[in-house]
Amino acid sequence: MASKKKILLTGGAGYIGAHTAVELIEQGYETVLIDDFSKSDKTLLTGVEKITKRKPNFVEGDCKDFQFLEKVFSQNKFDSVIHFAAYKSVNESVEKPLMYYENNLGSMTTLLKVMEQFAVNEIIFSSSCTVYGQPDIIPVDETAPFKRAESPYGATKQMSERILEDTVLANKILKAISLRYFNPIGAHPSALIGELPIGIPGNLVPYVTQTAAGLRKKLTVFGSDYNTLDGSCLRDFIHVVDLAKAHVKALEKISKMPNRFEAFNLGTGEGVSVLGLVKKFIEVTEVELNYEVGPRRPGDIEKVYADPSKAKRLLGWETKLTLEEGLKDAWRWQEKLADD
Ligand code: UD1
Repeated sequence: MASKKKILLTGGAGYIGAHTAVELIEQGYETVLIDDFSKSDKTLLTGVEKITKRKPNFVEGDCKDFQFLEKVFSQNKFDSVIHFAAYKSVNESVEKPLMYYENNLGSMTTLLKVMEQFAVNEIIFSSSCTVYGQPDIIPVDETAPFKRAESPYGATKQMSERILEDTVLANKILKAISLRYFNPIGAHPSALIGELPIGIPGNLVPYVTQTAAGLRKKLTVFGSDYNTLDGSCLRDFIHVVDLAKAHVKALEKISKMPNRFEAFNLGTGEGVSVLGLVKKFIEVTEVELNYEVGPRRPGDIEKVYADPSKAKRLLGWETKLTLEEGLKDAWRWQEKLADD
């Protein structure tokens, strides 16, 4: 078998980075993970090692730091980069917009400069369905226009995609894939890696599992008067292991794709309401969950779910795991954290 590619994962100690590292290592790829631990710690790296039975090749550092990246690139001959490293809290981005613009855009531009310097010509970027805002047509496909972003976080994802497209136009050998994630949930079925929010979780499923575990008093379902069947928001919840596998497919595709920039929606194609998810969690885990329905959260989008058919057609990827599995895995991970 020909030797597999060597891949740099920025943000490799984070939730999606660590799950992708596991899939790549299990497929025989050589990987180097970098992270500055600003929103993570060593927990998931230890988990990656336990699952794969190999110590991940890890270097601590900041992706905005040109000299740091130059050093990593001079010590490794990378074939491709997967760029996860970014801040992702919508609320925090509203409070600290400059921190978000500086970090998320600075890491992107620095990385692209260093990639050019070392003639590394393939990049896969962690984008988000947030780029669409509230789409006019759902399920939303990749041709939908970008509406004005609801938050600085969303704006950084839109701008990062623009930076990528412009750089691809200018640099005739660069190829880029932007993966627009819908709502990743769940954990590796081993319960050795999962979502590890710092402080009070902003995202729904970690808040649910922490409330069920007794770490939070009550979950509030934000909004009961949306134009949906039960009045709560509608989202497309995708199991993180399915999401991780899409990165492997994108890596297989990128060198062969005729266009040098492509964006793909990564979702299940099904809209599930927040209340529906909460009830499903109680049903599949059989745990008690204290929740109430409260007012809307500012900046939330009413409903968004993916048309994932382009990823199926061009990447040969589709989701296999269910919402039930995602919720059970998230709960198993939460219980495991409590045991440690
Ligand atoms: C947002 C972004 C997404 C981004 C993610 C990262 C949009 C459309 N989506 O997702 O791109 O990757 O943040 O953090 O901008 N909810 C509750 N109670 C809670 C927490 C959440 O009811 O305690 C509800 C929210 O109101 C929302 C749904 O659950 O309707 C999902 O929320 P969340 O997990 O924060 O993700 P998004 O806001 O959809």
